[in-house]
Amino acid sequence: MTTADLFAASQTPRRDEPLGDGAMVLRGFALAEEAPLLQAVAAIAAQAPFRHLVTPGGLRMSVAMTNAGPLGWVSDHRGYRYDPIDPDSGRPWPPLPPAFMRLAVAAAARAGFPGFVPDACLLNRYEPGSRLSLHQDRDERDLGLPIVSVSLGIPAMFRFGGLRRTDPVQRVPLVHGDVVVWGGAARLRFHGVLPLKPNHHEALGECRINLTFRKAG
Ligand code: SIN
Ligand code: FE2
Repeated sequence: MTTADLFAASQTPRRDEPLGDGAMVLRGFALAEEAPLLQAVAAIAAQAPFRHLVTPGGLRMSVAMTNAGPLGWVSDHRGYRYDPIDPDSGRPWPPLPPAFMRLAVAAAARAGFPGFVPDACLLNRYEPGSRLSLHQDRDERDLGLPIVSVSLGIPAMFRFGGLRRTDPVQRVPLVHGDVVVWGGAARLRFHGVLPLKPNHHEALGECRINLTFRKAG
Protein backbone atom coordinates (compact mmCIF):
# COMPACT_ATOMS: atom_id res chain seq x y z
CA MET A 1 0.00 0.00 0.00
CA THR A 2 1.37 3.42 -0.94
CA THR A 3 1.01 6.61 1.09
CA ALA A 4 -1.51 7.83 -1.51
CA ASP A 5 -3.64 4.68 -1.03
CA LEU A 6 -3.48 5.09 2.71
CA PHE A 7 -4.51 8.72 2.42
CA ALA A 8 -7.41 7.76 0.13
CA ALA A 9 -8.50 5.02 2.57
CA SER A 10 -8.33 7.56 5.37
CA GLN A 11 -10.88 9.89 3.73
CA THR A 12 -13.89 7.95 5.06
CA PRO A 13 -15.51 10.52 7.42
CA ARG A 14 -17.74 8.13 9.40
CA ARG A 15 -14.70 6.53 11.02
CA ASP A 16 -13.61 9.63 12.91
CA GLU A 17 -14.83 10.21 16.47
CA PRO A 18 -13.71 13.46 18.14
CA LEU A 19 -12.81 13.15 21.83
CA GLY A 20 -12.79 16.89 22.47
CA ASP A 21 -10.41 19.60 21.26
CA GLY A 22 -7.20 18.04 19.89
CA ALA A 23 -8.17 14.37 20.31
CA MET A 24 -9.75 11.87 17.94
CA VAL A 25 -10.39 8.16 17.51
CA LEU A 26 -9.80 6.94 13.93
CA ARG A 27 -11.77 3.70 13.83
CA GLY A 28 -10.06 0.94 11.85
CA PHE A 29 -7.42 3.29 10.52
CA ALA A 30 -4.57 0.78 10.99
CA LEU A 31 -6.31 -2.07 9.17
CA ALA A 32 -4.94 -0.92 5.81
CA GLU A 33 -1.46 -1.75 7.12
CA GLU A 34 -2.40 -4.78 9.23
CA ALA A 35 -0.06 -7.40 7.73
CA PRO A 36 3.10 -5.26 7.61
CA LEU A 37 2.39 -3.93 11.12
CA LEU A 38 2.07 -7.42 12.61
CA GLN A 39 5.20 -8.58 10.81
CA ALA A 40 7.12 -5.56 12.05
CA VAL A 41 5.98 -6.09 15.66
CA ALA A 42 7.27 -9.68 15.53
CA ALA A 43 10.61 -8.55 14.05
CA ILE A 44 11.06 -5.86 16.73
CA ALA A 45 10.18 -8.29 19.54
CA ALA A 46 12.78 -10.75 18.20
CA GLN A 47 15.52 -8.09 18.40
CA ALA A 48 14.36 -6.27 21.55
CA PRO A 49 12.11 -8.64 23.54
CA PHE A 50 9.14 -7.36 25.56
CA ARG A 51 10.03 -6.96 29.23
CA HIS A 52 8.29 -5.85 32.41
CA LEU A 53 9.85 -2.58 33.52
CA VAL A 54 10.03 -1.46 37.11
CA THR A 55 8.66 1.93 38.15
CA PRO A 56 10.85 4.39 40.10
CA GLY A 57 8.79 3.31 43.14
CA GLY A 58 9.90 -0.30 42.65
CA LEU A 59 6.68 -1.79 41.21
CA ARG A 60 6.83 -4.23 38.30
CA MET A 61 4.51 -3.02 35.51
CA SER A 62 1.81 -5.50 34.38
CA VAL A 63 2.25 -4.29 30.80
CA ALA A 64 5.38 -5.61 29.02
CA MET A 65 7.24 -3.05 26.89
CA THR A 66 9.81 -2.62 24.17
CA ASN A 67 10.67 0.15 21.70
CA ALA A 68 11.57 0.95 18.12
CA GLY A 69 13.18 4.09 16.76
CA PRO A 70 16.11 6.37 17.62
CA LEU A 71 14.73 6.81 21.17
CA GLY A 72 13.04 4.35 23.51
CA TRP A 73 11.07 4.99 26.69
CA VAL A 74 12.46 3.24 29.75
CA SER A 75 11.68 3.16 33.45
CA ASP A 76 13.81 1.93 36.32
CA HIS A 77 14.63 2.85 39.90
CA ARG A 78 16.26 6.08 38.63
CA GLY A 79 13.09 7.35 36.92
CA TYR A 80 11.50 7.59 33.48
CA ARG A 81 13.49 8.69 30.44
CA TYR A 82 14.12 8.28 26.73
CA ASP A 83 17.28 6.37 25.88
CA PRO A 84 18.82 5.55 22.46
CA ILE A 85 20.14 2.26 23.89
CA ASP A 86 18.18 -0.81 24.96
CA PRO A 87 19.46 -1.40 28.51
CA ASP A 88 18.88 -5.17 28.16
CA SER A 89 21.08 -5.63 25.08
CA GLY A 90 23.33 -2.56 25.18
CA ARG A 91 22.45 -1.96 21.52
CA PRO A 92 20.30 0.71 19.81
CA TRP A 93 16.55 -0.03 19.60
CA PRO A 94 15.42 -1.55 16.27
CA PRO A 95 14.67 1.14 13.66
CA LEU A 96 11.13 2.37 13.01
CA PRO A 97 9.77 0.13 10.24
CA PRO A 98 8.39 1.88 7.12
CA ALA A 99 4.82 0.67 7.85
CA PHE A 100 5.01 2.21 11.35
CA MET A 101 6.18 5.53 9.91
CA ARG A 102 3.52 5.64 7.18
CA LEU A 103 0.75 4.89 9.64
CA ALA A 104 1.86 7.37 12.31
CA VAL A 105 2.36 10.21 9.85
CA ALA A 106 -0.97 9.57 8.08
CA ALA A 107 -2.97 9.21 11.32
CA ALA A 108 -1.51 12.39 12.81
CA ALA A 109 -2.26 14.34 9.62
CA ARG A 110 -5.79 12.95 9.53
CA ALA A 111 -6.36 14.10 13.11
CA GLY A 112 -5.12 17.64 12.39
CA PHE A 113 -1.37 17.37 13.03
CA PRO A 114 0.30 17.52 9.60
CA GLY A 115 4.09 17.35 9.62
CA PHE A 116 4.30 15.08 12.68
CA VAL A 117 7.31 12.76 12.33
CA PRO A 118 7.91 10.40 15.28
CA ASP A 119 11.34 9.38 16.57
CA ALA A 120 10.08 6.86 19.13
CA CYS A 121 7.58 4.04 19.24
CA LEU A 122 6.76 2.42 22.57
CA LEU A 123 5.25 -1.04 22.13
CA ASN A 124 3.04 -2.19 25.02
CA ARG A 125 1.95 -5.81 25.37
CA TYR A 126 -1.12 -6.45 27.52
CA GLU A 127 -2.37 -9.83 28.66
CA PRO A 128 -5.73 -10.44 30.37
CA GLY A 129 -5.51 -8.60 33.71
CA SER A 130 -2.80 -6.16 32.53
CA ARG A 131 -3.65 -2.51 33.11
CA LEU A 132 -2.12 0.91 32.79
CA SER A 133 -2.95 3.37 35.55
CA LEU A 134 -4.01 6.93 34.79
CA HIS A 135 -1.03 9.03 33.73
CA GLN A 136 0.11 11.90 31.49
CA ASP A 137 2.71 11.46 28.74
CA ARG A 138 5.11 14.26 29.61
CA ASP A 139 8.65 12.93 29.11
CA GLU A 140 8.84 14.27 25.54
CA ARG A 141 10.71 17.47 24.73
CA ASP A 142 7.96 19.29 22.76
CA LEU A 143 4.58 18.80 24.43
CA GLY A 144 2.87 20.57 21.51
CA LEU A 145 3.33 17.49 19.31
CA PRO A 146 0.75 14.70 19.36
CA ILE A 147 0.75 11.10 20.57
CA VAL A 148 -0.47 8.51 18.04
CA SER A 149 -1.73 5.30 19.68
CA VAL A 150 -2.49 2.16 17.64
CA SER A 151 -4.46 -0.79 19.05
CA LEU A 152 -3.85 -4.36 17.83
CA GLY A 153 -5.18 -7.67 19.13
CA ILE A 154 -7.81 -8.19 21.84
CA PRO A 155 -10.10 -5.28 22.84
CA ALA A 156 -9.36 -2.86 25.65
CA MET A 157 -11.20 -0.13 27.50
CA PHE A 158 -9.17 3.07 27.15
CA ARG A 159 -9.64 5.69 29.86
CA PHE A 160 -9.43 9.29 28.68
CA GLY A 161 -9.60 11.93 31.38
CA GLY A 162 -8.91 15.64 31.59
CA LEU A 163 -5.93 17.83 32.39
CA ARG A 164 -6.30 17.21 36.11
CA ARG A 165 -6.11 13.75 37.64
CA THR A 166 -9.46 14.30 39.36
CA ASP A 167 -11.34 15.30 36.16
CA PRO A 168 -14.08 12.97 34.85
CA VAL A 169 -12.74 10.05 32.80
CA GLN A 170 -14.36 8.89 29.55
CA ARG A 171 -14.33 5.21 28.62
CA VAL A 172 -13.44 4.51 25.01
CA PRO A 173 -13.60 0.88 23.80
CA LEU A 174 -10.71 0.16 21.42
CA VAL A 175 -10.44 -2.79 19.06
CA HIS A 176 -7.89 -4.14 16.60
CA GLY A 177 -7.03 -1.43 14.07
CA ASP A 178 -8.29 1.60 15.99
CA VAL A 179 -6.00 4.62 16.29
CA VAL A 180 -6.28 7.38 18.91
CA VAL A 181 -4.47 10.70 18.39
CA TRP A 182 -4.16 13.40 21.05
CA GLY A 183 -2.21 16.64 20.83
CA GLY A 184 -2.57 20.41 21.16
CA ALA A 185 -5.08 21.23 23.91
CA ALA A 186 -5.48 17.50 24.66
CA ARG A 187 -1.79 16.62 24.84
CA LEU A 188 -1.56 16.45 28.63
CA ARG A 189 -4.90 14.74 29.24
CA PHE A 190 -4.65 11.89 31.75
CA HIS A 191 -5.23 8.46 30.24
CA GLY A 192 -4.91 4.78 31.04
CA VAL A 193 -6.26 1.31 30.28
CA LEU A 194 -8.64 -0.77 32.44
CA PRO A 195 -7.57 -4.35 33.25
CA LEU A 196 -8.02 -6.40 30.07
CA LYS A 197 -10.71 -9.06 29.98
CA PRO A 198 -9.75 -12.53 28.72
CA ASN A 199 -10.31 -12.73 24.97
CA HIS A 200 -8.78 -14.18 21.83
CA HIS A 201 -7.62 -12.49 18.64
CA GLU A 202 -7.02 -14.51 15.50
CA ALA A 203 -3.62 -12.96 14.77
CA LEU A 204 -2.30 -12.15 18.25
CA GLY A 205 -3.91 -14.77 20.48
CA GLU A 206 -4.60 -13.75 24.08
CA CYS A 207 -2.90 -10.39 23.89
CA ARG A 208 -3.18 -6.76 22.93
CA ILE A 209 -0.29 -4.84 21.45
CA ASN A 210 -0.45 -1.05 21.59
CA LEU A 211 1.96 1.15 19.65
CA THR A 212 2.42 4.73 20.82
CA PHE A 213 4.32 7.03 18.52
CA ARG A 214 5.98 10.09 19.93
CA LYS A 215 8.43 12.79 18.92
CA ALA A 216 10.53 12.52 22.03
CA GLY A 217 13.75 14.36 21.26
C1 SIN B 1 -0.04 4.53 26.73
O1 SIN B 1 -0.64 5.36 27.39
O2 SIN B 1 1.20 4.60 26.57
C2 SIN B 1 -0.73 3.36 26.08
C3 SIN B 1 -2.20 3.50 25.92
C4 SIN B 1 -2.82 2.23 25.37
O3 SIN B 1 -2.28 1.14 25.57
O4 SIN B 1 -3.90 2.31 24.76
FE1 FE2 C 1 0.46 7.17 27.88
